Amino acid sequence: MTAQINIAIPTDIADIDALNRQTLAENYSTDWYQALIGSPQSCCFVVRVSEKKVEAEAAAETIKKIEQPVATTTTTDTTATQEKEEAAVATPTEATEATETTQEKAEAAVATTAPSMLTRVTQDNANMSDKPIDDAEMAGYILTTLQNDSKGGVVGNIVSVAVAAKYRRHGFATTLLQCAEGMLKEKFPEIKYIMLHVRKQNKSALKLYAKNGYNRGTIVRAYYSNPVEDAFIMKKPL
Ligand SMILES: CC(C)(COP(=O)(O)OP(=O)(O)OC[C@H]1O[C@@H](n2cnc3c(N)ncnc32)[C@H](O)[C@@H]1OP(=O)(O)O)[C@@H](O)C(=O)NCCC(=O)NCCS
Repeated sequence: MTAQINIAIPTDIADIDALNRQTLAENYSTDWYQALIGSPQSCCFVVRVSEKKVEAEAAAETIKKIEQPVATTTTTDTTATQEKEEAAVATPTEATEATETTQEKAEAAVATTAPSMLTRVTQDNANMSDKPIDDAEMAGYILTTLQNDSKGGVVGNIVSVAVAAKYRRHGFATTLLQCAEGMLKEKFPEIKYIMLHVRKQNKSALKLYAKNGYNRGTIVRAYYSNPVEDAFIMKKPL
């Protein structure tokens, strides 16, 4: 699997909206998304996943497994290994052919490999490049912005975060939170804390935020509609 994280841009809005409608009761208009994502005060990210890359990764793993027994038998004979290495350097065509044979074996093995081998996603192993991966699908998003607090200061506000059901519990939301927090801090160093509202019964989100350093604060009665529910305000000092 390759997870690619990017700053959200207007062409992401349709996918963000679709995921938002699948996962949350709080929905927004296209104009609202455009105003938020287009605002210099926003820090919004999307994460996309390419299942095709899962197969590529599985192929790499399979290649390693196929090559391993050969390496084990040859390491005992260092002279022979050295001769083989020298021959490979001297005759690159043969070396390429050998690799292709291994590759073919790997590809055959991949045909029977399960496609979804998700590992935990972090800022270190996600692809942060601007070059989009072909066929990647929207796995999650986070929308955050700057807002004024009651004392006239500025705070970061997490407006919405969601991860598609099949990609949950793999660190996507955590990584999206970290990206947004990092960008908010960098763009607006005057921010003292980040805040958000969360439904009182949204146990997974409450755990996610607590694990990421957000403290539960006051309750706002009937903050949500559809269904009506109280919200906790949660805050994380920066
Ligand atoms: C809440 C949500 C964004 C979490 O996304 P995610 O990518 O699965 O979260 P992560 O993998 O980063 O989880 C980090 C931690 O949060 C907690 N957590 C997340 N989902 C949980 C669940 N269903 N049950 C219990 N704990 C959960 C865990 O402590 C988890 O760490 P662990 O997997 O090591 O135990 C996702 O479930 C979702 O999109 N829900 C619907 C939309 C929503 O509620 N958004 C929040 C609105 S305020």
